[in-house]
Amino acid sequence: MIFRQLFDDATWTYTYLIGDPVSKEAVLIDPVNTHIDRYLVLLNEYGFKLKYSLETHVHADHITASGLLRQKLGAHTAVSSLCGAETADIQISDGQIFELGESEQIRVIATPGHTPGSISFLWRDRVMTGDSLFIGGCGRTDFQGGSAADLYDSITLRLFTLSDDTLVYPGHDYQGRWVSNIIQEKTTNPRLSGKSKEEFIEIMNNLNLPKPKLIDEAVPANRYCGLDENERQDAVERRDKGQSTVQGTRTPDLVSAAKQHITEIDIEQARQLIANGKVVVIDVREESEYAGGHIDDAVFLPRGVLEFKIGSVSELADKTKPVLLYCRSGNRSALAAKTLQDLGYTSVLSMAGGYEAWSKVD
Ligand SMILES: [Fe+2]
Repeated sequence: MIFRQLFDDATWTYTYLIGDPVSKEAVLIDPVNTHIDRYLVLLNEYGFKLKYSLETHVHADHITASGLLRQKLGAHTAVSSLCGAETADIQISDGQIFELGESEQIRVIATPGHTPGSISFLWRDRVMTGDSLFIGGCGRTDFQGGSAADLYDSITLRLFTLSDDTLVYPGHDYQGRWVSNIIQEKTTNPRLSGKSKEEFIEIMNNLNLPKPKLIDEAVPANRYCGLDENERQDAVERRDKGQSTVQGTRTPDLVSAAKQHITEIDIEQARQLIANGKVVVIDVREESEYAGGHIDDAVFLPRGVLEFKIGSVSELADKTKPVLLYCRSGNRSALAAKTLQDLGYTSVLSMAGGYEAWSKVD
């Protein structure tokens, strides 16, 4: 088997290549968009066919190459189902296995804490821990829905229960270190060694770290597999139609699942509510769609950044106030409605048919 650890010196990010020289199937874990050409050359050198592009989480410090790798090589993009990246081909869940060739298996270990959707990948004697566990440290928990308590449990109950000699390959290292192992982290990691959960939370709550430079750009982009604005439109179209770019796979039908849990209203009902001033209207489409026309006074809050930006939308401060969401056709708004409900909003409506139907009746 081929195992390569690649480094992005702009963001101190590690990317991992695992390839099977027999079947020629390979995966990349946490690829960075600026290195796409390097990956293509490397895969070509080995004669590998990239089967999966796996993400440990939605990154805040760099943009993934997964969307580009899907476009150029047909690789399946995969990210945790808890990351809100619905254009990914595969929505990963805990315990899932990714297979390479006849017998190689990469197992998913859910390690929430840095973000709710953070996962680690266990392959043979090594675990790729993303930003959950670093060498002598761990990922921060102060944004992107992070939780120090969850991270402590993930590390101590899931990673530290792997065998002591399991090699730890982190998502970053800022001091030029490449690899560690479980026993070393158990015994020397200053945030965890001998620390109670309360002590760990205290440490994490007092790191006072600056906001990552790229966060406003990277998080929304990564939720669309790192694709740019135009490419996102295509991806959204495909997703709305329930299609995937990769032949033989289908994006799980998150939309119909969401629609079972939310309330949809038709255009006429929406018009009445808006006319009576009874609802906050939210447009969850992309910037270019909003710019091309929108409902008067609609607040612009794209689905891709909804959880991320919601705290700065004053109209949504009161979770009991009725909210009406719309998108192009009523699918993204259904997903967004489900998200708002999960966040505690008690009166959420999605406009069936979306702006397309609204414009026709106009
Ligand atoms: Fe991260």
